[in-house]
Amino acid sequence: MIDLRSDTVTRPTEGMRRAMAEAEVGDDVYGEDPTVARLQERVAGLLGFEAAIFTPTGSMANVIALAALTGHGQEVLCESRAHILRAELGAHGALTGLTSRTWSNTRGQVDLDAIRAMHAPDMGPFFVRTTAISVENTHNFAGGTIIPIEDLRRLREYADEAACAVHIDGARIWNAHVATGTPLAAYGEIADTMAVCLSKGLGAPIGSLMLGTTEQVAEARVLRKRLGGGMRQVGVLAAAGLHALDHHVERMTEDHEHARLLAEACGSDPALTETNIVVVDVPDAPAVVAAAQDQGILVGAVGPTKVRMLTHLDVDRSDVEQAAKVLAEILA
Ligand SMILES: Cc1ncc(COP(=O)(O)O)c(C=O)c1O
Repeated sequence: MIDLRSDTVTRPTEGMRRAMAEAEVGDDVYGEDPTVARLQERVAGLLGFEAAIFTPTGSMANVIALAALTGHGQEVLCESRAHILRAELGAHGALTGLTSRTWSNTRGQVDLDAIRAMHAPDMGPFFVRTTAISVENTHNFAGGTIIPIEDLRRLREYADEAACAVHIDGARIWNAHVATGTPLAAYGEIADTMAVCLSKGLGAPIGSLMLGTTEQVAEARVLRKRLGGGMRQVGVLAAAGLHALDHHVERMTEDHEHARLLAEACGSDPALTETNIVVVDVPDAPAVVAAAQDQGILVGAVGPTKVRMLTHLDVDRSDVEQAAKVLAEILA
C-alpha cells in the first residue's frame, strides 16, 4: 500500500531508531531527562523563544499554549477550519474553558478586516473578551497553505494595538520554512506562543513542543501534568525529534515536489499546492477513496467532495508516480 492519508504514518528510520536506543534519559517530570532538555533548548533556540516544553501531541501543545494566553470564558479568534477547532475534539472548551469565533478564508489566510470587526476588548459583564488570535501555518485543511511572513507581521502589529496575544499552530511550520526560506525565528518573532510537531513531516514517531516565555512554559508544565502528559524517561522519544531536526528538515522540498506532481495528476493547479498537502475537489470523495484503495493507494476523504493526500518521508518518487497514475485514471 502507498499510504498518502497523512504525514503522520511514517515509521522511524534505522538512524532514528539507533538515536532512540542510544538516548541518555532521566525522569522528565523531575526535569532530569537530558535529551528532552536538549530538544527543548534546541527548538526554543530555533524559533527564538525563551523556553519550550515537550508534549506527547500537537493537540496538547495547542491546549497548554492557548491556556497560557487566555482565561476561562475568554475567546480566541481563528480561521473556521483551524485544527484547534475542528480536530481537537473540543479540548479548548472542554478542558480550559476557551470559546472561539472564526473568520473564513478558503486558503486559511489571515483576514485582518474580519479580525478587527470581531475583536472584543474587555467590556466587563457584557461581552466575551478576545484575548488571543490563533493562526495555522501551514494550514492543514486548507491544503498545506502558507501564511506569508508579511501578513503575520501585519497581524502582530494589529495584535499589539489591540493588546491581544498571537498563537501560531505551527504543526507544519517546518514545511513553511523550507518552502519559503523564511527563517524559523521570523515566525517565532510574531507569536507569543507556538506549537510545533515532530511527528508530521519530520517523521518522528511522537512528539510536539509548546513554546513561550519561561513563565508561560512553567505554567504549561503544570497544565501538562494535570492533563496526564507528565512523561518519565522520554529522552528516547526526544532523541527521535533531535534526529529528525538533523536529517529531515531540508529534505521536505522533495515532499513538496511530490505533492505538486500529485496535484497535477489530479487536475489541480500545482501552483496552489504550496507544501506537502494536496486537497482536490471530486464529485464523490468516498468513491474515490475506495477506488484508490482497490489499487493500492490510500488517500483520505475530508468532506463529501474533498480528497486529501499528504506526501512524506515514507513515499518516494516511484510511489508518488504510481499514485499519480492511478489517481489520474480514477479522476479522468
Ligand atoms: C495543524 C495541526 N495542528 C495540530 C495538530 C495536532 O497534532 P496531534 O495529532 O499530534 O495532536 C495537527 C495534526 O494533524 C495539525 O494538522
